[in-house]
Amino acid sequence: MSGNALGERFRVVSFGESHGPCVGVVVDGCPAGLELAREDIQMELHRRRPGASELVSRRVERDEVEILSGVLGGRTTGAPICLLIRNEGADRSAYEWMRSLPRPGHADFTAHAKYGGFNDHRGGGRFSGRITAGFVAAGAIAKALLRTVDVEIFAHVKEIAGIKAKDVDFEAIKGRPKGMDPIGCLDPIASSKMIAEILRSKSEGDSVGGIIECIILNPPIGLGEPVFDTLDGDLAKAFFAIPGVKGVEFGAGFEASRMRGSECNDPFIVEGGRVRTLTNNSGGILGGISNGMPIVCRIAIKPTPSIRKPQRTVDLERMEEMELTVEGAHDPCIVPRAVPVVEAMAAITLADHALRAGVIPPVIKGGGARATP
Ligand SMILES: Cc1cc2nc3c(=O)[nH]c(=O)nc-3n(C[C@H](O)[C@H](O)[C@H](O)COP(=O)(O)O)c2cc1C
Repeated sequence: MSGNALGERFRVVSFGESHGPCVGVVVDGCPAGLELAREDIQMELHRRRPGASELVSRRVERDEVEILSGVLGGRTTGAPICLLIRNEGADRSAYEWMRSLPRPGHADFTAHAKYGGFNDHRGGGRFSGRITAGFVAAGAIAKALLRTVDVEIFAHVKEIAGIKAKDVDFEAIKGRPKGMDPIGCLDPIASSKMIAEILRSKSEGDSVGGIIECIILNPPIGLGEPVFDTLDGDLAKAFFAIPGVKGVEFGAGFEASRMRGSECNDPFIVEGGRVRTLTNNSGGILGGISNGMPIVCRIAIKPTPSIRKPQRTVDLERMEEMELTVEGAHDPCIVPRAVPVVEAMAAITLADHALRAGVIPPVIKGGGARATP
């Protein structure tokens, strides 16, 4: 298999390059009968799009999605759904140097080595954050499917440049409108400190990274196919497809390694006739299977590789060491733009497992609930 497809029953194939004509996805396996309007997908794409603020790339993209197949009369037909987003802000000439001068921290060198220099090098080609527009479009369909079983996914910025946001109250985020904070952080004081730090790094020609927390509310019990297709394993795999992701943890995560069993184990209780846990150090997954508690994961994202500060690299044609300064439209911090992408990857994985477990049927009779902004 080529590595461009994700999922078994809800299968997403990604295509396109940063500075080619388009990016997009083909979603195969979506049940028939699901109500799906173009606006449901567009709304999610608007959250990921580079905007006009100083915090993001100056690349201009409208990110208008075209539904080319699989939807008729506002409902899915059961056939593959092809979603296409044309690249408008592409500047094909500006990136010729990338063919032989790999940016430190980017995939230019490994892609060149793997594909013998035949890879589309322009703006990172297949390795650009641009391809995540397709992920978000597929995620919008997955979210629509998950709404039919009352599952909600919410991601927010937990940390940027070492500045930490306060812990969130999971009950308070239920049904909360998204996009209220300019960087997707729920703690306004931490948010303004993070913004100041992003702008400071930008003024120094540098970049910063951070952590996104993703919470899946009301997951059905029993999702996950041990031993190799565990729910946490498949979520992590999906998150690692996002360019720039360097770490994923669930529940207490790495901190669990520093706890005693008596602190880490989540005691079982009965609540409203259901088995729940008193704490959630497991992050809602035990043995690779969802236990019905909120699934909580954190995704670490590195600083944007393209920076204006001079860096050492090698001219691959001459095999000579060089100094490189990257100009162009780059985000000083990709974390805020990755928030809807994280949600999309979580939604795709949950929808896939819900279909595998039979929690979502092959035909959606009632049509499903529409997205709210
Ligand atoms: C939404 C988004 C936007 C991104 N924008 C940029 C960018 O403007 N410049 C850049 O150098 N990297 C950007 N990246 C990150 C690189 O694509 C990524 O670091 C690179 O492909 C290497 O992959 P790796 O970091 O996973 O090893 C972006 C990533 C995402 C998710």
